[in-house]
Amino acid sequence: MSHTPNLQLNNGRLLPSIGLGTWQGEPGEVERAVGEAIKVGYRHFDCAPVYMNEDAIGHVLKQAIDGGQISHDQLFITTKLPLFANKPELVRKTFDVSLKALQTGYIDLYLVHLPISLNRDQVAVQGMKSPFERPPNPATFFDKADHVGIWKELEKLVDEGLVKSIGLSNFNEKQIQNVIDNARIKPANLQVECHPYLPQNELLAFTKKNNIVLTAYSPLGSPQVTAVHRTGGKVLLQDPVLKKIAERHGKSVAQVLLNWQIQRGVGVLPKSVKRERLEENFNSLSFNLSKEDINEINDLGKEPLRYVDFDVWRDSPDFPF
Ligand code: A2P
Repeated sequence: MSHTPNLQLNNGRLLPSIGLGTWQGEPGEVERAVGEAIKVGYRHFDCAPVYMNEDAIGHVLKQAIDGGQISHDQLFITTKLPLFANKPELVRKTFDVSLKALQTGYIDLYLVHLPISLNRDQVAVQGMKSPFERPPNPATFFDKADHVGIWKELEKLVDEGLVKSIGLSNFNEKQIQNVIDNARIKPANLQVECHPYLPQNELLAFTKKNNIVLTAYSPLGSPQVTAVHRTGGKVLLQDPVLKKIAERHGKSVAQVLLNWQIQRGVGVLPKSVKRERLEENFNSLSFNLSKEDINEINDLGKEPLRYVDFDVWRDSPDFPF
């Protein structure tokens, strides 16, 4: 298959249903993976400044465009406002850094990465090694985020033609509703962790009702995240029910997971840096899951399990989960 189906956003724009996740990829590795992914047929790349690899991605995208491998308008580039910049007055200059790194002239989809706002200066003040650990003094580490003020800055980016669509990530229903109620340009997309152990059925119904496309990060259950204390060692890709379904179709568990999401109208962002897996994931739509398969998969979500939970930030007044 040389392309994937699209999901239509509320402004008529098209979001390719399979995109490449670039989280936890070291820059050189991701640069190679994006180059390979373009050859495989990927056109949708999901980026973020906190992944620390936007420069590398921008470099390889530019090479592919300049070399005539792809044209600029075939690409769909997502990036995100990081939680260090979750303040209206920081939006524009933070966005400019991503745009410069990605070298695409505009961004297809700009998301608010998290509803939480961190005070980055406090990392040093509180003697922390990184912002990704639990702050000793949460009262000064977290600022109350002004979601509506931030959203208005995102709307300005759309007005200026620098961003085509805007959306949210890791927001809960109440937080999304607040943005919707105060938005001139309604959110087009919500990106959250989503897979059969965390099917997000209610959130999916809410987004469909509000004409928001949902995309799933960690669609394979992020096997690289080893939070055994929380997950009890449960590995989605090794689930016996999924393995049985995959065997029935002569496909891999990863392909079953991606196929299931797309047939329920959810976009997917599987991450891989390996050529054979890039192909495997991209080619996951060449079979049809039966009603029985789908019922069995739906049964796996009875006790929701979150692989990526941002637990260290749970003291934020805006913690979403
Ligand atoms: P790698 O990059 O070495 O291929 P998720 O998208 O849910 O976060 O999962 C990403 C993880 O799953 C990465 O560690 C990736 O490793 C691995 N992965 C990606 N595609 C597949 C696949 N088809 N089968 C097994 N593991 C995969």
